[in-house]
Amino acid sequence: MPDAAPPSPPPPAAPRARSHFNNWISAIGGVIALGALFSFALLAWMDFTQGEKNPYLGIFTYLVAPAFLALGLGLALFGAWAQRRWALRHAHAPDRWRLDFTSRAQRRGLAALAAGALGFVILSAFGSYQTFHYAESNAFCGQVCHEAMHPEWVAYQRGAHARVACVECHVGAGAEWFIKAKLNGAHQLLTYTLDTYERPIATPVRNLRPAQDTCEQCHWPEKFSGNVERVFNHYLSDRRNSAYTARFLMHVNTNVPGHPPGGIHWHVSRDERVEYYATDDQRQTIPWMRVVNRRDGTTREFRTPEFKGEPPAERIRVMDCIDCHNRPAHAFPTANDAVEAALHAGTLPRELPHLKRVAVQAMTQPAITRDAEAPQRIADFLRAKYADDSQRAALPGAIAAVQEIHARTMFVERKADWRVYPDNLGHKDWPGCFRCHDDQHQDAQGRKVRASDCNSCHTLLAQGSGAQLEVLNAMGLEFKHPGGDLDPALSCVDCHNGGVQK
Ligand code: HEC
Ligand code: HEC
Ligand code: HEC
Ligand code: HEC
Ligand code: HEC
Ligand code: HEC
Repeated sequence: MPDAAPPSPPPPAAPRARSHFNNWISAIGGVIALGALFSFALLAWMDFTQGEKNPYLGIFTYLVAPAFLALGLGLALFGAWAQRRWALRHAHAPDRWRLDFTSRAQRRGLAALAAGALGFVILSAFGSYQTFHYAESNAFCGQVCHEAMHPEWVAYQRGAHARVACVECHVGAGAEWFIKAKLNGAHQLLTYTLDTYERPIATPVRNLRPAQDTCEQCHWPEKFSGNVERVFNHYLSDRRNSAYTARFLMHVNTNVPGHPPGGIHWHVSRDERVEYYATDDQRQTIPWMRVVNRRDGTTREFRTPEFKGEPPAERIRVMDCIDCHNRPAHAFPTANDAVEAALHAGTLPRELPHLKRVAVQAMTQPAITRDAEAPQRIADFLRAKYADDSQRAALPGAIAAVQEIHARTMFVERKADWRVYPDNLGHKDWPGCFRCHDDQHQDAQGRKVRASDCNSCHTLLAQGSGAQLEVLNAMGLEFKHPGGDLDPALSCVDCHNGGVQK
């Protein structure tokens, strides 16, 4: 075996022991790292001990605090590296940034650093506490990510869930989803910082938590009320902006004690489960569905005549609340509906001829490409349409109202409005229920989906205007379509699109 190298001469005695970390830069880095570590520990502790969970707190706990920790440690390492470099080059000169406790001036500096460090740690504790409470608030979700989530925030504030915290639906309770939401929150922050987030934010939200863990914490299937009345106030596009109202009784729950569940909420009943396959990401085109009996496992399968073969198993979705109530907190009304609501509330004056149509046209002008230019374009459009002296008086109010409706419901730069966010709870302006209830889907025996006549989902109690609405018909009226006789070959969405200019 070849012998090792001859014994090396003993190293020359070092002039003095040098720790490369003994320097000012590393000391400052150490203080920053310590403060960050302290904040992290505090935030993480608050995060896990406080009842309400908030994914955005994770941004601070798991992104910002560690970033500072890395910065501090990096600075300490850099100090050591610089010191070492200096030491190698100037073997006999005194260290440059060395902490020297014998020097009076340095001692004073050190005392200042120690005081600063203490202050820093206290401040970061205080800061962490404030951060915690801030990150918990809806204002943070909706407003700090203001640019990104502005449309959702505005829509949320006018909804039935304006007092329900974002996290109740988007995160819910429990550690697993909490961590998922945190990772997602960090990812969102990144896209937001880099300004690469989607416009519009794509839906359906892929990682939305199943409704049993969110909606059903407050609404439970057994509790559903029987029939629910819904009133739809419309105004036609004629000269007089004629009112047309429909009063419906929605058969949400037709349960009779001792009988199997029936009615609209049957889809989420305990007895049966509805599964479906959508070919598109927005879940709007549904060629196949299956009803599975939860007790005995028997199934009924329905498909459109065009759809052959089997759907890919991983894309089969079990229907839950969100397949109908997909806009419980962020409803983007159509331009038609928003204008009609304003006519109904009286904020838009009905005496301006054709105002229903003109207001919708003003809002949906393709010329509006930036949010900031919308008010001017809307004003110009209305002024050009209503140039008569007799119309002058009502005009400023109308302009202000249309500008306000536009700002509330259409977000041009975010590309967020009803045209990209379909509401599946109905069938007039989006396919909704008629995605499946369209008389096309059949089972192997040629049986169609049970509910497809107009009175199976709702009873029309009254329609028209004024006195016509006072007498309710419990047997259900036939719908008199204001746009002429309904052609059974056409679906409502073939004509109704909420006011898109064609
Ligand atoms: C009542 C439950 C609920 C509450 C409360 C709620 N959301 Fe949502 N949100 C939803 C549902 C359901 C969707 C998914 C819609 C879909 O997948 O089609 C959604 C979708 C979103 C989207 C995706 C874009 C879109 O419009 O579909 C964003 C962004 C969003 N919510 C932000 C928020 C913010 C911010 C808050 C609080 C200010 C909030 N949400 C409160 C239920 C809720
Ligand atoms: C934290 C409790 C809570 C959660 C979670 C919640 N809701 Fe609600 N929801 C409410 C309350 C309270 C109301 C009644 C509001 C009112 O009457 O103004 C309500 C009202 C509703 C209504 C009827 C109001 C309307 O818009 O006409 C629907 C539909 C609804 N919720 C669906 C959902 C769905 C779907 C989800 C899950 C995505 C959900 N809710 C999650 C508390 C909740
Ligand atoms: C098949 C579609 C569909 C599914 C699935 C569905 N709903 Fe509904 N829900 C409706 C319709 C339609 C109404 C009637 C109200 C309307 O038309 O605005 C309604 C009404 C409601 C109401 C309001 C009742 C009231 O008194 O105003 C609540 C709350 C509600 N649903 C919650 C839920 C929850 C929670 C789930 C999931 C467990 C769910 N829904 C599943 C279609 C559905
Ligand atoms: C994903 C497909 C799908 C969608 C979307 C859908 N349904 Fe259904 N619905 C079904 C199937 C499947 C059945 C059961 C058909 C059968 O067994 O004959 C059904 C049955 C019904 C029934 C009869 C329930 C009973 O009493 O037995 C009603 C009422 C109903 N749906 C209303 C609605 C309403 C309202 C909407 C929209 C808010 C809607 N459905 C959306 C698939 C769907
Ligand atoms: C599968 C169930 C279902 C069937 C079948 C059905 N509807 Fe509806 N319809 C609904 C639901 C759900 C809504 C309520 C939407 C909402 O709450 O916004 C609705 C709303 C309406 C409205 C009011 C819409 C508005 O914005 O003014 C009219 C009008 C209407 N239906 C007419 C009809 C006619 C006519 C038929 C027969 C061709 C029919 N419906 C068949 C479920 C159904
Ligand atoms: C052939 C095209 C066409 C089809 C299909 C159609 N509509 Fe209409 N609808 C019209 C026209 C045109 C008007 C009159 C619009 C106006 O004066 O503003 C109208 C008016 C209405 C109105 C009152 C005013 C408004 O704008 O809301 C309701 C409600 C309505 N339709 C519901 C339905 C429903 C529900 C269906 C499907 C069952 C349907 N329509 C199918 C063309 C159609």
